[in-house]
Amino acid sequence: MFLSKIQSRVMPLEEGNERMNQTKGLPLRLLRLLVVFIAVCVMFSIISMYTIKHFGIESVVTTMSSRLQPCYEEPENGLLDKWIRPRSSPIHNMSDKELLWRASFVPRIKKYPFKRVPKIAFMFLTTGPLPLAPLWERFLKGHDRLYSIYIHSLPSYQARFPSSSVFYNRQIPSQVSEWGRMSMCDAERRLLANALLDISNEWFILLSESCIPLYKFSFIYDYIMKSKYSFVGAFDDHGPYGRGRYKSNMAPLVNITEWRKGSQWFEVNRNLATTIVEDTTFYPKFEQYCRPPCYVDEHYFPTMLTINAGNDLANRSITWVDWSRGGAHPATFGRTDINEEFLDRVRSGNQCLYNDRNSSVCFLFARKFAPSALEPLVHLDSKVLGF
Ligand SMILES: *[C@@H]1O[C@H](CO)[C@@H](O)[C@H](O)[C@H]1NC(C)=O
Ligand SMILES: *[C@@H]1O[C@H](CO)[C@@H](O)[C@H](O)[C@H]1NC(C)=O
Ligand SMILES: *[C@@H]1O[C@H](CO)[C@@H](O)[C@H](O)[C@H]1NC(C)=O
Ligand SMILES: *[C@@H]1O[C@H](CO)[C@@H](O)[C@H](O)[C@H]1NC(C)=O
Repeated sequence: MFLSKIQSRVMPLEEGNERMNQTKGLPLRLLRLLVVFIAVCVMFSIISMYTIKHFGIESVVTTMSSRLQPCYEEPENGLLDKWIRPRSSPIHNMSDKELLWRASFVPRIKKYPFKRVPKIAFMFLTTGPLPLAPLWERFLKGHDRLYSIYIHSLPSYQARFPSSSVFYNRQIPSQVSEWGRMSMCDAERRLLANALLDISNEWFILLSESCIPLYKFSFIYDYIMKSKYSFVGAFDDHGPYGRGRYKSNMAPLVNITEWRKGSQWFEVNRNLATTIVEDTTFYPKFEQYCRPPCYVDEHYFPTMLTINAGNDLANRSITWVDWSRGGAHPATFGRTDINEEFLDRVRSGNQCLYNDRNSSVCFLFARKFAPSALEPLVHLDSKVLGF
């Protein structure tokens, strides 16, 4: 096919040449020019044939067509697609500074000019493996278009999920993070920023490797999507572990009456996620003045969000955790703890406000669960958890 194309391109020129030869009184200079031109054409044909013989027709055709592409206009939605369609891999080489800047982009026209199905971004903040992954796989099964997953682990950790797993290829570029230090907030902001790059993500849920979902996907999706408030634990603790950690150096930016404390496990909407990644005002103050024994991951987001967007906060988290055993760490549950009664106790027996109304459904996720809890959890009757 290609050969015939070349011939048809060369032939008319030769015909033209003959015709011109017959023409009397043609200037000699023009004739010479034509001869040179034909020579070039013949050379091109020979080179083409040589290339075809040695590299195959396909390579020549693809080079040709790829060279032709710039001639065509991009389809009209080609540019919009770049903004709408999520990238297949969350890998990039942006620095944190570049990433946060890019993630802070917000459209000023609020109505989307395309059908946007809002997604939940499940953001796993881990050190290494996800021992409860099989439970999450079951939870997420069949809801592909309604969620996305991001994993932040120690940079040295190499994840080995099979390509069929929902966790396959979902690791974001990560850095070492330490509990109670700003590097922990950096990791959370990194997760948020990566998830913000997908314009369909509407809710952003921070989880650890020891978290489990307490209801089936559709229930959690509805509860979160219909919430007027973002779920961030934020309370004014007058004790030594609350206001006691406040430093007057933070005034006047942060007044002690605005100082808040809360668990780091948050569930925020897109608006608040942007508020977190775009903050350059409070960050330096907290980095400088909230150092152990001020655990910055318990104060920075709750305080900053209370000041910037207090009316958007539910002031509670929807991640259940058991501090009743006392001590510096919450209780961890293993194989022998898991049964129907235990899960019922976690899910009910609470009172809270949901969209300004009393509700007994206050927690959608729970922690902390040891790897040994996986087996009894996946063997529970599917009626218990609903998935
Ligand atoms: C990222 O990669 C591109 C080329 O792929 C390079 O031009 C750019 O400098 C890199 N950026 C960083 C921060 O490494
Ligand atoms: C903090 O705010 C309260 C009222 O909101 C005000 O009375 C108080 O003077 C402020 N304190 C400081 C240290 O600015
Ligand atoms: C959460 O607390 C802030 C003040 O800290 C308040 O303005 C807001 O109304 C509270 N949210 C709800 C849902 O009560
Ligand atoms: C919620 O229930 C408590 C009693 O348990 C009641 O005092 C309160 O008014 C109720 N709040 C709403 C918003 O219905």
